[in-house]
Amino acid sequence: MRIGILGSGLMGGKLGTIFARAGHEVVFSYARSEQKLKKLAGEAKGKARHGTPREAARDADAVLLAVHWLRFDDVLEQAGDLSGKVVVSCSLPMNEENTELVVGRTSSAAEELAKKIPRARVVSAFNTVPSEVLFDVYEARRKASRPSLVYCGDDRRGKELAAGLIRDVGFDPLDAGPLRIARYTEPFALLVGQLAYEGTGGPELAYRFERFAE
Ligand SMILES: NC(=O)c1ccc[n+]([C@@H]2O[C@H](COP(=O)([O-])OP(=O)(O)OC[C@H]3O[C@@H](n4cnc5c(N)ncnc54)[C@H](OP(=O)(O)O)[C@@H]3O)[C@@H](O)[C@H]2O)c1
Repeated sequence: MRIGILGSGLMGGKLGTIFARAGHEVVFSYARSEQKLKKLAGEAKGKARHGTPREAARDADAVLLAVHWLRFDDVLEQAGDLSGKVVVSCSLPMNEENTELVVGRTSSAAEELAKKIPRARVVSAFNTVPSEVLFDVYEARRKASRPSLVYCGDDRRGKELAAGLIRDVGFDPLDAGPLRIARYTEPFALLVGQLAYEGTGGPELAYRFERFAE
């Protein structure tokens, strides 16, 4: 699959690298230095290169949106038309200081994003785990028990594609329902962040839901 990375920081850089190692064609874009994008593409190995957000989005089957909430408008403008594209967003609606959600309860970053690009297939995923755990999850992907990863969206095709990417990274995808469920998954991400960054065991933290049925 061809995947455009819009935002090549902690999340986009690592997820893009893993996607490339899993065999996808990846274009890294949107960082403050072209040198950084070039280095990411080089180190990802596989079929990775760097480009502008427009180049990353143009031929992509899916784009990963991994920027700060305050950068949404800028990166979307640079990416151009995303109609029909699957847009997997790992973004959270944080304030500038990254201390609080600025949208919640009656909406979510994912829903606000979908309003900005109504013809795209928006899926919210990967935002409930810290970037620090991603390579560990990928390394452990052949183990019997995988960590869960909740995702949500309104578009069936977009969700199928996102579930495949979630599996490629090494998680067990858990469909949480329509995009408005991001109102619950986004605050949940802050709980995971609290445990990861303020807990005692370090930030390499993922989670697993277990169902006990008869
Ligand atoms: N980090 C996590 O563990 C985590 C977990 C869950 C969800 N999230 C969410 O995921 C999203 C991305 O987080 P992140 O931690 O990956 O952020 P990040 O490391 O700051 O990455 C953001 C990317 O945007 C680029 N960028 C920022 N301003 C720019 C500008 N003016 N022009 C061009 N590029 C610019 C950055 O460039 P540079 O590379 O040059 O800085 C970086 O590549 C956020 O919405 C966050 O809330 C993060």
